[in-house]
Amino acid sequence: MTRSTILVIDDDPSLGRLLAHWLQRDDHEVLSAETAAEGLDALTCALPDAILLDLNLPDAHGLEVLATVKQRHPRLPVVMMTVDADVDTVVRCMQYGAFDYLPKPVDRTKLFTTVRNAVDKGRADLRIAQLEREVDGSGYPGILGQSPQIRELFRQMDRVAPSDITVLVRGESGTGKELVASGLHSASPRHSAPFVAVNCAAIPENLQESELFGHEKGAFTGADQRRIGRFEQANGGTLFLDEVGELSLPLQAKLLRALQEQSFYRVGGSSEVRVNLRILAATHRDLRAMVADGRFREDLYYRLAVFELAVPPLRTRDGDLLLLAERFLREVGARYGRTNLRLSHEARERVERHPWPGNVRELRNAMERAAVLARDGVVQLADLPPSLVLGPPTARPQTTEPPKPQIEQEPTRLSDIERAAILRALDDADGNVSEVVRTLGIPRTTLYRRLREYGVR
Ligand SMILES: Nc1ncnc2c1ncn2[C@@H]1O[C@H](COP(=O)(O)OP(=O)(O)OP(=O)(O)O)[C@@H](O)[C@H]1O
Ligand SMILES: [Mg+2]
Repeated sequence: MTRSTILVIDDDPSLGRLLAHWLQRDDHEVLSAETAAEGLDALTCALPDAILLDLNLPDAHGLEVLATVKQRHPRLPVVMMTVDADVDTVVRCMQYGAFDYLPKPVDRTKLFTTVRNAVDKGRADLRIAQLEREVDGSGYPGILGQSPQIRELFRQMDRVAPSDITVLVRGESGTGKELVASGLHSASPRHSAPFVAVNCAAIPENLQESELFGHEKGAFTGADQRRIGRFEQANGGTLFLDEVGELSLPLQAKLLRALQEQSFYRVGGSSEVRVNLRILAATHRDLRAMVADGRFREDLYYRLAVFELAVPPLRTRDGDLLLLAERFLREVGARYGRTNLRLSHEARERVERHPWPGNVRELRNAMERAAVLARDGVVQLADLPPSLVLGPPTARPQTTEPPKPQIEQEPTRLSDIERAAILRALDDADGNVSEVVRTLGIPRTTLYRRLREYGVR
């Protein structure tokens, strides 16, 4: 069982420190915030197992904060703390969805039991959601993977799916951002309403506004009919703004307004259109950097990134690579009537060593190609795309130190370069294998295999 994380929101720093100290000794991780704003901010990227929330905060009433938290994360247990423990207050906290209540001064033993119960309840709720997802199969269709990284993604999705919270999905190209967005929709209460995806990168700038908001007849040359935009199409459901970093600055301003007001005008229209929808967005770009460069509006960024989900790149997902490769081979093979397709030993090694910059999409394409080319049911090196066979070796030392002078002649064969890199990294790391795995970014199993080949271990 992983350690639990508790977010403590209390404006009294000495009490905050004391609570943190006690909770840490009871084996919890602690995040601390002294204002409501700070606490809600922490929730945009961290998902604690429970929150301890003071009722009297300098910048907001605790009940308001409680309401906001419950709206964004219905499954996150919140324990309220206050000095005036009158019945009315307690009842109101419970009505607002608090899990439990701790009177101040906080009693240490009571703190432990309450927090443990809260953590257990939150985990049980998540587990139930997960089981429901598995049983009715409606949850996150098509997202394959069993690595701890993908499980953590599912856990975070389970947390944010049921609410109307705006989620920004980040990740390299081909990691499955669109699958994640549609998965969130299908696990949300809006699942039977439309899921409408707009790829902002695919719309020319002069058409972006009409695409999103629609236009009236005669709004511009060629607008010979009224057209409903994506916002209206998604009414009642979810609007997915894919590649949101590609929107022009003027359109960013219009989008921000539409999100704030939940209403907009069609191009050339004079009456306001109201909609009720949930927004999800995705980007492969670093939006924070774009904000810093003035290419993306900061206020829009904060509107979209109420919670940020990071989809892990394939090369960091322990153990998923071969699982996915074999699954894709089977799927595609079945389409061509070729069952029992498998990778040869060499092909498998090459697949494991490739850095997969195009992630799952690249892997899927490679396996489709291999399924067609393979003879006798076995995928050989030659059946893999040339980028894999000739591509850059993954065994690149990523340290910033200048390379050590080479005494022997510069190695030229790929396997020699790899061998030199591995042995050097092992030397630099004083034999620490975990460190070599980190610096070279190769799977541990591959490293062990190499070391055996070199006769090192
Ligand atoms: N975990 C996964 N399991 C199975 N298939 C996946 C997974 N992740 C992605 N895919 C497949 O990989 C392809 C790319 O996925 P998707 O379009 O969701 O990625 P993306 O992150 O939106 O990519 P891009 O940034 O290029 O738009 C799709 O064919 C999708 O079905
Ligand atoms: Mg995409």
